[in-house]
Order: sequence, then structure tokens, then C-alpha cells
Amino acid sequence: MPIRTARPSDYQRVIHNVNDWWGGRQMSQMLPKLFFVHFCSTSFIIERDERIIGFLIGFMSQTHSQEAYIHFAGVHPEYRKQGVGRTLYDQFFSTVQSLGCNRVRCVTSPVNQQSLAYHLHLGFQIEPGSAQNDSTSYHLDYDGLGEHRVLLFKHL
Ligand SMILES: CC(C)(COP(=O)(O)OP(=O)(O)OC[C@H]1O[C@@H](n2cnc3c(N)ncnc32)[C@H](O)[C@@H]1OP(=O)(O)O)[C@@H](O)C(=O)NCCC(=O)NCCS
Repeated sequence: MPIRTARPSDYQRVIHNVNDWWGGRQMSQMLPKLFFVHFCSTSFIIERDERIIGFLIGFMSQTHSQEAYIHFAGVHPEYRKQGVGRTLYDQFFSTVQSLGCNRVRCVTSPVNQQSLAYHLHLGFQIEPGSAQNDSTSYHLDYDGLGEHRVLLFKHL
């Protein structure tokens, strides 16, 4: 599956789809263009028939030199369960590993059960928080009032 690094000109093609790809949740404000300008070498795009069908925005941590962070990843609903997400994540893992990283982190909302199941399937573990939803431990108000998050990490 052809994959390439992201570039600024991808932004408009991605941002218009983000809310739809997240099932109508308002997500686009969490993805400003700066990610397509300053994090290109660790962010990836997959296209088919000149359409972007998957993207991953990630970066190396400036605070923790052996850690990397996945900020956003999404796959066009018509192209899910075909290995697009796995290809994006594997490319990110190998890229940041070659830069000296041995741990990848990301966060997801406790309401995004699909994202949670997907990350657990890919080998991520949950960092225990102060609150519990069914069997999932999460961090209350992590991203601001009412913005609870499940913190995930994976050893490379
Ligand atoms: C989560 C998402 C990126 C997965 O993309 P995808 O292209 O469907 O994933 P893949 O087909 O590459 O699946 C990779 C593996 O995960 C598994 N998988 C995919 N979706 C899954 C899910 N919801 N729950 C559990 N496992 C899942 C696949 O079976 C596959 O397993 P295998 O490689 O062992 O056979 C996609 O569903 C999506 O864009 N969701 C909406 C946005 C979102 O929530 N993003 C989360 C990160 S911010």
C-alpha cells in the first residue's frame, strides 16, 4: 500500500473530512494546519485514486526523547478494515524507532470505544487513571473540564 509523508497542501483535503470520519463528532478544531507544516516527517498519508483515504499525524516528544506521540489518525469509512490504519501505524512505529524512540503514546476519548479497541488490538496498554468507565480506566478532565481521556502507550 503506497504511503508517503504529509505535506501542507494535504491539509484542506483532510480537514474537510475529519468530522464525518469521526461519525459527526466535532474534531476538526483539534487539528490545526501547523501539524501539516511542522510535523511532516513523522506524519503519513495514504491515497487511492487521488483521494486521501487515510492519514496519521504524529511527532517525536521534545520533552521525552525516547517517546513519540500520535495526535490524530483516521481512515475513510469506506476503506476501513483493509489494513490502511495498520499500514499508517507501522510506518509511524518504524520511523520513530529509527529516530531513537522506544515508546509511543496517544490519548482517546472514553466514548470512542472503537478507537480504544483498535489501539488495544495493536498492542497499546492503558495507563491507569482516577476514573473508571465499565472496565476502562481514564483520566478525568485530562484535556480540560469534561474532556476525559484514556491514556495509551505501547513499547516498541
Ligand atoms: C481506528 C481506525 C483508524 C482503524 O483503521 P482501519 O484502516 O480500519 O484499521 P486496519 O484495517 O488497518 O486494522 C488493523 C487491525 O486492527 C483491527 N481493527 C480495526 N478496527 C478495529 C476496531 N474498531 N476494534 C478492534 N480492532 C480493530 C483490524 O482487525 C486489524 O487487525 P489485524 O491487522 O490483526 O488483522 C479507523 O476505524 C478510523 O479512522 N476510525 C475513526 C477515527 C478514529 O477513531 N481514530 C482513532 C485514532 S485518533
